[in-house]
Order: sequence, then structure tokens, then C-alpha cells
Amino acid sequence: MNTVKDYIKKHKERFLDELIELLKIPSISADSKYKKDVLVTADYILESLKKAGCDNVELCETPGYPIVYGEKIIDKKLPTVLVYGHYDVQPADPIELWTSPPFEPVIKKTEIHPEGAIFARGACDDKGQMYMHIKALEYMTSTGNLPCNVKFMIEGEEEVGSEGLSWFVPRNKEKLSNDVILISDTGMIANDIPSITTGLRGLSYVEVEVTGPNRDLHSGLYGGAVANPINILTKMIASLHDDNNRITIPSFYDKVADLSKKERAEMAKAPFSIENYKTALNIKDVYGEEGYSTNERNSIRPTLDVNGIWGGYTGEGAKTVIASKAYAKISMRLVPNQDWREITELFKNHFESIAPKSVKVKVTPHHGGQGYVTPTNNTAYKAASHAYESTFGKTPIPQRSGGSIPIVALFEKELKSKTILMGFGLDSDAIHSPNEHFGIWNYLKGIETIPYFYINFSKLFR
Ligand code: BES
Ligand code: MN
Ligand code: MN
Repeated sequence: MNTVKDYIKKHKERFLDELIELLKIPSISADSKYKKDVLVTADYILESLKKAGCDNVELCETPGYPIVYGEKIIDKKLPTVLVYGHYDVQPADPIELWTSPPFEPVIKKTEIHPEGAIFARGACDDKGQMYMHIKALEYMTSTGNLPCNVKFMIEGEEEVGSEGLSWFVPRNKEKLSNDVILISDTGMIANDIPSITTGLRGLSYVEVEVTGPNRDLHSGLYGGAVANPINILTKMIASLHDDNNRITIPSFYDKVADLSKKERAEMAKAPFSIENYKTALNIKDVYGEEGYSTNERNSIRPTLDVNGIWGGYTGEGAKTVIASKAYAKISMRLVPNQDWREITELFKNHFESIAPKSVKVKVTPHHGGQGYVTPTNNTAYKAASHAYESTFGKTPIPQRSGGSIPIVALFEKELKSKTILMGFGLDSDAIHSPNEHFGIWNYLKGIETIPYFYINFSKLFR
């Protein structure tokens, strides 16, 4: 019997070994030191797609890192699933906080993952989750269980803004034409509470520079008489939230799509323990915008956060100095209907306007992207929902996420197709943090569930 469960059982060790090999390559897209490794990873994916039965596998050049493309077209009349994922990873630092080196994957048991989890940068985001799709494809092609056409598009710049892919997609609409886009790059509530991600937040990322005097000064001789850029910057940043933790940038909330009472009540039904949440993070209390729950604050509400701040003397001991410059990196998570370019402009104007005359302010936009809400009444959602029912024995809960995959909105605009987000990671898997991991159970469950999506989607599709 060629059931997917049997297939996984038989090939489990190899499935793990192959993922471990992939995780050994440090494909950090943000750091040009790793350029070679990012390219080697693209080759690894290319070979994996070939072995899994894909045709026309190629590296598609872009102004940035290549996109790995492959397809299996069995009948033009059948529907086509386009799988998207990314082979790049976040930088591993702070490296000293890892309990094992980030690019030497090891399997360790945890409370949440008693079957063991693979610890490595990219284990969950997104190498592990992306590789599930390649193994699911291998199962379907090698056992004659592929019910429709499939295309793979795996990029290497997701963690730095998907510029290459934004260039590639509008130029290859025909090649990428599809009936649904399938992505595993999000999470679910818990291993016994499956959920389907129904929303992603948008993003505006900016860097600010505050310049005071033309050089660093003795803080005794000049302190108190000139603007200290670090003092000013922190004051400006503090003023970006009011006492209710609402963002003070004028017009910032104008376009925010508010949820109805009914939608909020629906959301509140998702299982969530604030006590467990606090314990997991070792915090005495949560924090955020007045009038909203924790789950609302981290999904349907926009935010503004400083991601990094620097300037002046940070070395050992003390140095009495007023720095000439201070800097910060600031991200704003946006919700549907907020336009990221518009918000970036609002930020820039406001930030410049609140600066005292004694300093100069420069705001440099980085990247950004639109939020996205997936429908829950279409074929793709139903197909996914039934797939989880088959393998988890439970109907998944629709849940909006706070994270961003900006390229999803572009897919909709350019390719006119909807995305379905079947994430198998957990919030506790520490993506972007030290000790990122991905449960072996989750990895194999993903491989098991994906083929059901294909079957259901092909059946339901008219
Ligand atoms: N896979 C994440 C996004 C994510 C994770 C969404 C978990 C929902 C749940 C993705 O790789 C990511 O990190 N995106 C960035 C944005 C990007 C433009 C750098 C993010 O959300 O910070
Ligand atoms: Mn990701
Ligand atoms: Mn990421």
C-alpha cells in the first residue's frame, strides 16, 4: 500500500538526513560574506527538485539571488498548484546564545517536541517547511499519486525583502500561471490545535539618523549646551506612542480595516492562555495598545517597534562623550488597507517635523510590503481544511498572523491568484532567534498533510 504514512515511515531517516544537509549551508541573504553559500543552497534545491520528479528545473537569474524553478505538468486541463518558499535564512547572531552551532544541525528533545526537534538556523523558517513540499512531491510522483500540475518557485531573498522575486514575477506571468499558491512559511497554534493562517501583516521598515554637532564632543565641556543626538533620538522615539500605546503619527490609523464585533468575538474563540504566554516569555505582564487583546495586538492591529538603536560609546568601561550621531532601525507592521508606501511617507514627514532645530534628521526607507487576508470560503481553504482533518483528526482554526510575507500581495496583484498558508511551525520554534528549531513530528506531519491538499483541491476545483 502506497499510503503517504507508509511512505514516510519507510523514508523517514533519509527525509531527515536530507534536511540536515540543507541546514548545514549558511544561506544568509543579508550578509554578502555568505554569497557563495546562498548560491550553493540554490543548487541543492535545484538538485532536490530534480530528484523529486520535477521537470524543467532551472535557476532563474534575477538582479539578486536566483529563483529555483521546477514543474510537473501532467495534464494542461488539470488545475495547477504553485508552491512558494524561501531557501535563504536570517543571520544567526547573537551566536553565543545558541546551545549548539546554528549551522551544525542537531536533534534534541524539548517539552513541546518530545519526538525531537532539529536545531539549526532555517530549520523552521523556511528550509524545513519548504523541504516538506519537495518530499511530498517526491511521494506523489514516485507512487503515481500526483493528481494535478505543480510548479515550484523557491527564492533566496525573502528575509531581505524579495527584490529579485518582485522583479521576476511580473516578467514571468505565463510561466507562473496557476490556480492557487501554496505556502508553508507560517505557524499553527499547537500540535494538537491545527490552524490555517488567514492573514499576514504588511511592513514598512525605515532607518533614522539624528545628527547633532559635527563631531563627538567632551560631555563635560559641551554637555548641557548642545543637543545630544542620543537623548533627542530616544525622546523622539518615545513620543511615537501615547499613554494608551497608540501610535501618534497623524493619519496612521486612517485606513486601518477595523474588525466587526462579530469577527473579534470569533477570533477570541481561538484557544489561548495568557498565563502560558507570560510564562513562556518570562514576563510579569503583557503590554500593548489599550482596548485590544494580546492576539488582536499581534495580528489585526498595526505596530511600531524599534529593532535596533546605536550611537556613542558602547565599549568597555566609561567614556565621557556626546556623540555626533545616533541611529535607529524602526519597523511598522501594517494591517490590510494600510499602504506601506503611504505609511512610510507619513512616518518620514512626522519624524522630521518633531525634530528640534538643534539636530538634523535623515529618514531612509528600507523595504516594505502589503498585508494580506486569505479567504476562508474558497476551494483552497476547504481543500486545506479537509487535509488537516484527514491527518490531525481535527478541523483547523483560521488564525491571522502578525508576521509578514510581503510577496504574497504581489502574487495576487500580478498572478491574480489567491494564496493558502499551511504553516506547520510553532511560535515557540524560535524563528529569527537563537536556537531556532523545527519539530520532527511537525516536519513529517507536514509531508503527510500536503498530498491531501492536492487531492482535495483537484477534486473540488471546477
Ligand atoms: N516566515 C516569516 C514570516 C512569518 C513567520 C509569518 C511566522 C507568519 C508567521 C518570514 O520569513 C519573515 O520573517 N518575514 C519577515 C518580513 C521580511 C520582509 C523580512 C518578517 O515578518 O519580519
Ligand atoms: Mn519565512
Ligand atoms: Mn523569516
